[in-house]
Amino acid sequence: MKFFIDTANLSQIAEAQKMGVLDGVTTNPSLMAKEGITGAENIKNHYKAICDIVDGEVSAEVIATDYEGMIKEGHELAALHPQIVVKLPMIKAGIQACKYFSQQGIKTNLTLVFSAGQALLAAKAGATFVSPFIGRLDDISTDGLNLIAEIRQIYDNYGFETQILAASVRHTMHVIDCAKIGADVMTGPLSSIEGLLKHPLTDIGLEQFLADYRKGN
Ligand code: E4P
Repeated sequence: MKFFIDTANLSQIAEAQKMGVLDGVTTNPSLMAKEGITGAENIKNHYKAICDIVDGEVSAEVIATDYEGMIKEGHELAALHPQIVVKLPMIKAGIQACKYFSQQGIKTNLTLVFSAGQALLAAKAGATFVSPFIGRLDDISTDGLNLIAEIRQIYDNYGFETQILAASVRHTMHVIDCAKIGADVMTGPLSSIEGLLKHPLTDIGLEQFLADYRKGN
């Protein structure tokens, strides 16, 4: 299972990278705005800065919502760095652009996916990643994890190679449940990765080991 961090914050990305378990980064226009990164050139430079920190795939989202605009913007983003994955919204033009980029050998991530039908279309269009947003489904009292399970079943039925990127992950249990279901990737905040470390028995046990060592040394 790949771990992506879902942020545009460079120090958090560097922190996760330092742990040695990071496989990539997802961003979106809201995450960029949260870091105060505005303007097309600044945003592009920020993507390059992210690629300099991590070794894996970095999703960069197009702003255009028409096919021609997505193609132009997607090419510009892909040209920034070999690690860039073109992130496209799950609308008709996004599916068409996904098909185009998959034929060009450019990686894609279909975002804002909330149903199994949308995920089926993404796979048919040759998406590298599909991003079902589990946290936002949970927010409206719909089982986000069930969507991951449905997509897993459909993709396995037909051998689709599109990777299921569980997005809008909010906490460690989302990560663990996604791993149990078989999501290929999860993207979440730094806390959802660091939280996996924590267990009180680990802390108590380590304290005891060190205390016993100190007694004899
Ligand atoms: C996915 O790529 C999105 O950036 C993201 O996971 C959205 O998560 P949110 O629902 O916490 O905003």
